[in-house]
Amino acid sequence: MLGGGGCCFSDERRHTPGKATILALGKAFPHQVIPQEFLVQGYFRDTNCDDLAMKEKLERLCKTTTVKTRYTVMSKEILEKYPELTREGSPTIKQRLDIANNAVLEMALEASLNCIKEWGRPATDITHVVYVSSSEIRLPGGDLYLASQLGLRSDVGRVMLYFLGCYGGVTGLRVAKDLAENNPGSRILLTTSETTILGYRPPNKSRPYDLVGAALFGDGAAAVVIGATPRNGTETPFMELNYAVQQFLPGTHNIIDGRLTEEGINFNLGRDLPQKIEDHIQDFCKMLMDKAGLDEFNDLFWAVHPGGPAILNRLQSKLNLREEKLECSRKALMDYGNASSNTIFYVMDYMRKELKRDGGEEWGLLLAFGPGITFEGILVRNLQ
Ligand SMILES: *[C@@H]1O[C@H](CO)[C@@H](O)[C@H](O)[C@H]1NC(C)=O
Ligand SMILES: *[C@@H]1O[C@H](CO)[C@@H](O)[C@H](O)[C@H]1NC(C)=O
Ligand SMILES: *[C@@H]1O[C@H](CO)[C@@H](O)[C@H](O)[C@H]1NC(C)=O
Repeated sequence: MLGGGGCCFSDERRHTPGKATILALGKAFPHQVIPQEFLVQGYFRDTNCDDLAMKEKLERLCKTTTVKTRYTVMSKEILEKYPELTREGSPTIKQRLDIANNAVLEMALEASLNCIKEWGRPATDITHVVYVSSSEIRLPGGDLYLASQLGLRSDVGRVMLYFLGCYGGVTGLRVAKDLAENNPGSRILLTTSETTILGYRPPNKSRPYDLVGAALFGDGAAAVVIGATPRNGTETPFMELNYAVQQFLPGTHNIIDGRLTEEGINFNLGRDLPQKIEDHIQDFCKMLMDKAGLDEFNDLFWAVHPGGPAILNRLQSKLNLREEKLECSRKALMDYGNASSNTIFYVMDYMRKELKRDGGEEWGLLLAFGPGITFEGILVRNLQ
């Protein structure tokens, strides 16, 4: 018997010597829960907007995104304290960062503590921290506050990954994998934390993508502990990070565009994003699968960042995936929205429960896409 989970892994599911494994996972969310059916009313009321056409558009979007609930830092209290956030064109970047820096750290701490608790070893056994966020900016950065408030050693090696967007969680895994595999005995805490406070603003016809964001985005945090050579009896790895690749598509840097302005962050998303992903996904997945000599897509399990339902649908049809293959990604989107870099961990949390069943697939892919256009992918092995 291994660890508290009571799950034994058979000989053929032992980790590959020297490869990084995921040893624990934790999540955290802000207190405000938004059921999708109350979103439109609340958003138009809070921003004093009575444009019926935009309201109807958002109603439609709210249905097509398939999201049912998400968690947000934005609250009645914040809007009362900072009414300027709802006014078009007000220079509010300072206020937004004040709110976001604190909120993101608070969620990051909670997710990390949940993760360390599941891991079962003292926080001082953490040797490296990788911190991922596209929602805070300051010097020193959130990595320092996280390390000191968790009581980590002062010689913990910190890496901060700022403003990568949606694929940041998988980049964090790739960096943590390299750290774990190249530093014997190391244990890496990878934490992601995001809020949409930087981009909150009133509806405006000239920014149609803001409505998509309003219908799709959520806030939250996640954390994992990663290490090679799990300790017998005390550490229970559930997934091996076997092989990782990042790739950008040349000439597509304008398709996802984010700008930080005096009014907060502005996003623009090209309509051709799902198509670009569809055009390149097959070769990208094959490159990862070749490493394990796999060539049938349906033999794998799939943990895909659910940027939106269109991306999942295109990927499913292009690769001829069976309906149930993207179930964990769809469920994460439904329950938490697109929570940027965190989302892949919400998918993974559903996935590890799913893979405990008899005959759970051995090999799988973690995939995320974002600005660049960047593809980030990891070939993983189920160790349960
Ligand atoms: C909508 O945004 C444009 C461009 O940012 C701005 O000029 C315009 O005043 C805004 N409309 C309203 C109703 O605030
Ligand atoms: C660790 O577990 C493996 C497999 O169960 C076993 O062969 C090995 O002897 C164990 N090592 C220690 C130090 O207990
Ligand atoms: C998901 O959210 C992130 C940031 O919150 C954003 O950059 C990205 O464009 C979103 N994806 C889609 C498909 O809307």
